[in-house]
Amino acid sequence: MASVDDVILETRALSKRFGGLEAVRSVDFRLERGELRAIIGPNGAGKTTFVSMISGRIRPSSGRIIFEGRDITKMKAHDRAGMGIVYTFQIINIFRNLSVYENVSLAVQRRLASGRAGIFRVDEEELHREVDAILKRIGLRDAAEQEAGSLPYGHQRLLDIGLALALNPKLLILDEPMQGLAINEIDEVMRMIRELHRERTILLIEHNMQVVLELAKKITVMDKGSIIAEGTPEEIEGNIEVQKVYLGL
Ligand SMILES: Nc1ncnc2c1ncn2[C@@H]1O[C@H](COP(=O)(O)OP(=O)(O)OP(=O)(O)O)[C@@H](O)[C@H]1O
Ligand SMILES: [Mg+2]
Repeated sequence: MASVDDVILETRALSKRFGGLEAVRSVDFRLERGELRAIIGPNGAGKTTFVSMISGRIRPSSGRIIFEGRDITKMKAHDRAGMGIVYTFQIINIFRNLSVYENVSLAVQRRLASGRAGIFRVDEEELHREVDAILKRIGLRDAAEQEAGSLPYGHQRLLDIGLALALNPKLLILDEPMQGLAINEIDEVMRMIRELHRERTILLIEHNMQVVLELAKKITVMDKGSIIAEGTPEEIEGNIEVQKVYLGL
């Protein structure tokens, strides 16, 4: 069990300005190891911008990001991935013309080769074992030879998550994984997120309230670039401020 103050990620006064717009305003945020935290908030609240700064895709205007006690504010995205911070985009990011197997294989090879200079020879057997394990994990073993772009949308999302898994993250950040999915597909992805959570910390941005209330033990609510509430699903559901901005009441 994680101890009470085993903080895996912290942001201090983290801000991002796009010209005159303050997309993220001085956000202080703490995430404990082993949590499955949801971030919710209306469109444009700054959720994607916030996690993009954590993953290193966007540079903060000011503030700090601490991961496992280390200041990573200035670190490049691929170095952060190497440390265990992996982010899946709001938009599905797979090689549509390659097979499911090839997609996962490339991601695993990327991890195996990272940090090694020069020509790197992969151990084919080890590679195959890892790819197969991930395919099994995401339930796409039977679709291994299919072209990724021809998969049903929900399975493309599972593959997308599989590619993140191939990097063996300690902190997995999922940006609206349920977007565009049918109800039965949502159930499938939810089941997978729950299973992944057994081994890693998850930060989940999600609009679907039902999903959030079911999955997360703690919810952070953003609006206009700031955190306006944080608490258990019950606390958040009962929070008047949240109801006003998020539920449009
Ligand atoms: N690259 C950019 N350049 C300029 N403005 C941006 C950029 N990225 C985001 N913004 C603006 O910053 C604000 C926050 O956007 P962000 O995408 O972080 O919101 P979000 O909470 O993820 O919204 P959604 O729920 O729609 O995904 C919005 O007003 C958006 O238009
Ligand atoms: Mg977003």
